[in-house]
Amino acid sequence: MTALSVSTSSAASLRADALVIGVAKGAKGIVLAPGAEAVSEAFEGKLAEVLTTLGATGAEGEAVKVPSPAGLKAALVLAVGLGEAAEDGYDLETLRRAAGVAARALAGSKKVALALPAEDAEETEAIALGALLGAYSFGTYKNGGGKEPVGELVLLAARKGSKDAKAAVERAAVVGEEMNRARDLVNTAPNDLNPKSFAAIAQAAGKEHGLKVEVLDEKALLKGGFGGLLGVGNGSANPPRLVKVAYTHPKAKATLAFVGKGITYDSGGISLKPAGHNETMKCDMAGAAAVFAAVVSAKRLGLAVNVTAWLALAENMPSGSATRPGDVLRMYGGKTVEVLNTDAEGRLVLADAIVRAGEENPDVIVDVATLTGAMLLALGSRTFGVMANNDELRETLHTLAGEAGEQSWPMPLPAELRKGMTETTIADLANMGERMGGGLVAGLFLKEFVAEGIDWAHLDIAGPAFHEGAPFGYTPKGGTASAVRTLVRFAERTAAGTKA
Ligand code: BES
Ligand code: MN
Ligand code: ZN
Repeated sequence: MTALSVSTSSAASLRADALVIGVAKGAKGIVLAPGAEAVSEAFEGKLAEVLTTLGATGAEGEAVKVPSPAGLKAALVLAVGLGEAAEDGYDLETLRRAAGVAARALAGSKKVALALPAEDAEETEAIALGALLGAYSFGTYKNGGGKEPVGELVLLAARKGSKDAKAAVERAAVVGEEMNRARDLVNTAPNDLNPKSFAAIAQAAGKEHGLKVEVLDEKALLKGGFGGLLGVGNGSANPPRLVKVAYTHPKAKATLAFVGKGITYDSGGISLKPAGHNETMKCDMAGAAAVFAAVVSAKRLGLAVNVTAWLALAENMPSGSATRPGDVLRMYGGKTVEVLNTDAEGRLVLADAIVRAGEENPDVIVDVATLTGAMLLALGSRTFGVMANNDELRETLHTLAGEAGEQSWPMPLPAELRKGMTETTIADLANMGERMGGGLVAGLFLKEFVAEGIDWAHLDIAGPAFHEGAPFGYTPKGGTASAVRTLVRFAERTAAGTKA
């Protein structure tokens, strides 16, 4: 794993394989960002000129390497683009992405020093997190061939304020490590990550960090009447699990329940997905990975709030014992659901988990799920939808997501779309409604299972959970750890007793 630290050494005297600085687009060509002063001096004021000759324009995403002159202990200088030059500080997401670009461009290096513009703890944290996320690589199945991620990232800080910088970097290390763990879970092949092995990983991590973990296996689920989890899981050789991971703080004034969709593989079941729609369906447990990363982060950060994560784990497969379209399931809590399409399985496992979470009377339930292709159609692949039974909560989560560097958009739960799920059915509800607005229909289905009086929000991360394009900023191909930062920020805000 990549190590992260702070140093008060000068940029010129720190020994490293590479030294990272920022460049931006100025009115007359590129300008060096604050932090690059010592490097500029070592180049005798010619650095901007040299970089321009090498093609640097300061555009975001750009990375230009220059060999160091004699005055620098680092072998190489890497200039990353920050976009338009900013006079009063760079946007936090710009800094995260620039640091991520640098960490990716320098893969294979042992030690990298970062001298990007950081004027306060928030900016330092953004750079540290971006770098740690950018340094991520998933090497589990590769027999060599790829470059090793950067071994050590050192953030340069002025002596004054270095204590704050250290705290900021420690915080970034927690969130970054847990996000990278969530990415590993998503990237792990579905023949290795199934409900049982995921539950075992949660138990081990719980032990490591002092969290209470309870696992309901298929026998316990049967005894408890968890018809949604069992109905989805019964076509698979790998039976379902419901995992509860609890973090409590003695001074907590509020309890948050985070519920994650954990379909370790979604084949569609008997309503089988066609080829072309199933190659990435190992990502269908990204919600469970996100809520798990969030509760571990809350514990490691010592936040004064109680957080319970519920992982609704099942594998959706077709077989002779699989749920058929037309079957009726009796969900946890007693509601009955006619399964019209076995590919609408996420809402079935989540319904059980949401009812179970509600029994403990949390102040808020937030579920996170790669729930619908419709949300991808609506918002594209980088933005998650936020739905809620409370307008203020929906706006709060949308705002906090933005502050944390995650793209989201508030979506409605139009009452008239509920009708489609209640028509022509022999049960209380069907798991399908109108095709139009499918992401909202799924949200309305979940809302049926939220106990009276509990504030609930639903994050549909079907788009951003898994990145299929070329890497950008700190986002690699594959699992992204979507929603983790939003949940952690929400827990922090709740702990601080403030609203966004
Ligand atoms: N896991 C899928 C949703 C999904 C699609 C996630 C693309 C990530 C990328 C979900 O279980 C699903 O199959 N949803 C169906 C619901 C439909 C049958 C009502 C869908 O969106 O097509
Ligand atoms: Mn499905
Ligand atoms: Zn699914």
